[in-house]
Amino acid sequence: MTRAISLHDVSKTYSSKTPRVVDRLSLDVAPGEFLVLLGPSGCGKSTVLRMIAGLEEITEGMLLLDGEYANELPPAARDMAMVFQNFALYPNMTGRGNIGFPLRIESPGADHGPRIDATARMLGIEDLLDRLPGQLSGGERQRVAMGRAIARHPSVFLMDEPLSNLDAKLRSHLRAEIARLTRELGVTTLYVTHDQSEAMSLGDRVAVLRGGVLQQVGTPRAVYALPRNVFVAAFIGTPRINLLRGLVRAPLDGAMTIRLGKQFLRLPEPLSLDHQLLRVQQGREVIVGLRSEAVRIAKPAAARPGEVPLTGLVEHLEFQGHEVLVHFDTGSSPAVVPELEAPRPHTRPDRRRRRDATVLERLRERAGALRGGPVALLDRPRRAGAGETGAAPEGAPAAEPRLPGDLVVRTTPDIRLRHGMQVPLLVDLAHLFVFDQHGERVCPAPDRLPDLRE
Ligand SMILES: Nc1ncnc2c1ncn2[C@@H]1O[C@H](COP(=O)(O)OP(=O)(O)OP(=O)(O)O)[C@@H](O)[C@H]1O
Ligand SMILES: [Mg+2]
Repeated sequence: MTRAISLHDVSKTYSSKTPRVVDRLSLDVAPGEFLVLLGPSGCGKSTVLRMIAGLEEITEGMLLLDGEYANELPPAARDMAMVFQNFALYPNMTGRGNIGFPLRIESPGADHGPRIDATARMLGIEDLLDRLPGQLSGGERQRVAMGRAIARHPSVFLMDEPLSNLDAKLRSHLRAEIARLTRELGVTTLYVTHDQSEAMSLGDRVAVLRGGVLQQVGTPRAVYALPRNVFVAAFIGTPRINLLRGLVRAPLDGAMTIRLGKQFLRLPEPLSLDHQLLRVQQGREVIVGLRSEAVRIAKPAAARPGEVPLTGLVEHLEFQGHEVLVHFDTGSSPAVVPELEAPRPHTRPDRRRRRDATVLERLRERAGALRGGPVALLDRPRRAGAGETGAAPEGAPAAEPRLPGDLVVRTTPDIRLRHGMQVPLLVDLAHLFVFDQHGERVCPAPDRLPDLRE
């Protein structure tokens, strides 16, 4: 048995004085689907999961399980199993005792041996059943905890960062196992993580949350290829997408360009449909998003159709073994996306800061409050020149750690590059993202659907 879960405009407030930690969330999870809730720390992921489990009251909105109103259904009647980050096993019970515990509660007196053995086989922990938790490694303990959730044959799995306490190797191993298990069992699964690569590799679909507000939900491929806003674009993908402040120039009698600092991206004629739609941004500041695969090191003469030249100064080389990440300075200014790594988005600005805020900042703050805050900041002072950072005004969000360069490009390790070298680059405009001042994607056009053949 597996179930459909629907959230309709679900909000959560912990007290009347604090803002909503989950804000009008609507989400449909199909029976048997594996949906990942992804977002930075404090964005409300665990709260959503706990509301679905019935461990936390829903302040506003509706939860439907298989189409039935379930806001007030007691947790035990929901037939869900939860696996937590800090999985707690009963220390004085063996693996067998721990896995069998929920079964004994459900039907005391029955013989649960066969069910426990089958579960242990599935998880490859047959040899560990007679050990106490203190005699198991972290990964083994986590498997026993999974076993405890699986043995009940629940209709829904709720997993809250179940792997984050484990080392990288074990994490990727268990990740693959979770994917296999849940597919085998065909049970609806909601999986919470702040690790985008985990989300991308596990989910049938990924729902990206920020400040309690759903930003986008889609297949991993769709959210990567067509992020709805700059936050999603920056949160998903490694190395992180390059985000540069640009200015759109669309003269009636000349070529359309996007200025990046002292350089220009000249959009090739005839303009594509997506580029034509950029005309409305004429004279406006925008955020240009270039994933590392959108830029390559090559001379202008080698340009393929749709590629335009740019140059960059090598600032830093990151050797990765199979590839090198080259940090270039192109003389443009990076755009700032707040909260990407912020520990808690809901700190209230103090009074003094509010008084000092400009009218524009206050307006923006108010507009942003409706949708979980502005997704991008364009009113920070621009960098005066390469290597020099403008001081942020008091009250402005803390700058992200300043990385060398403004554009990261991947290349093979055999290309010989040196710090300080001026290098020709080609930008593939088919992979160009443009976001408006509020951080919403305007190119490719917002209503473009992902092409699954790509
Ligand atoms: N019981 C509570 N009372 C008041 N505020 C709470 C309570 N539980 C959580 N919060 C607040 O609600 C917000 C969302 O918390 P939640 O635990 O859902 O975030 P999260 O996305 O799971 O974060 P993390 O990745 O760090 O686990 C946070 O700002 C948190 O401080
Ligand atoms: Mg959490």
